[in-house]
Amino acid sequence: MRARLLALLLLTHLTACGEAPPDLAEGKALYDLHCASCHGLKLEGQPNWQRRLANGRMPAPPHDESGHTWHHPDEVLFGITKHGMVPPYAPPGYKSDMLAFGGVLSDGQIRAVLAYIESHWKSPEVLAAREQMLRGAKRR
Ligand code: HEC
Repeated sequence: MRARLLALLLLTHLTACGEAPPDLAEGKALYDLHCASCHGLKLEGQPNWQRRLANGRMPAPPHDESGHTWHHPDEVLFGITKHGMVPPYAPPGYKSDMLAFGGVLSDGQIRAVLAYIESHWKSPEVLAAREQMLRGAKRR
């Protein structure tokens, strides 16, 4: 009974604060299932990810600190994951192997995957650079 009441209180609290915080365990499970085949189980990306493939497309970049995912604001990462590499994230007609997950994952699931990816950005240098980038992005 008490546990139920507590759960109810927690639920009311979460609802009152807007959306529930993204669930990292769910994010990892979704990442392993939907993203790891290209971006790597350890977020390491495809080998030689900075070199264009023979078909003219780019390989999947790492999502860890060695890549450039952290250079982008959350809205951009969300948009790319939901819609793929289409305008405004890429020029019109841009050909990419990155899939659009809009029909596969809910917005909440996309946020959970991105929160899982972001939980890998830990070094003070990357966190400071990201913070500065986000401040610049807001000013625009
Ligand atoms: C079939 C392979 C494939 C899968 C699966 C895939 N991606 Fe990608 N992703 C790519 C490729 C290739 C790129 C590079 C696109 C380009 O530059 O043309 C990319 C780029 C991205 C970028 C932009 C990174 C940057 O720094 O610009 C994000 C964000 C991203 N993917 C997120 C995800 C997420 C989240 C998932 C899982 C839900 C996922 N991707 C699944 C192939 C894939």
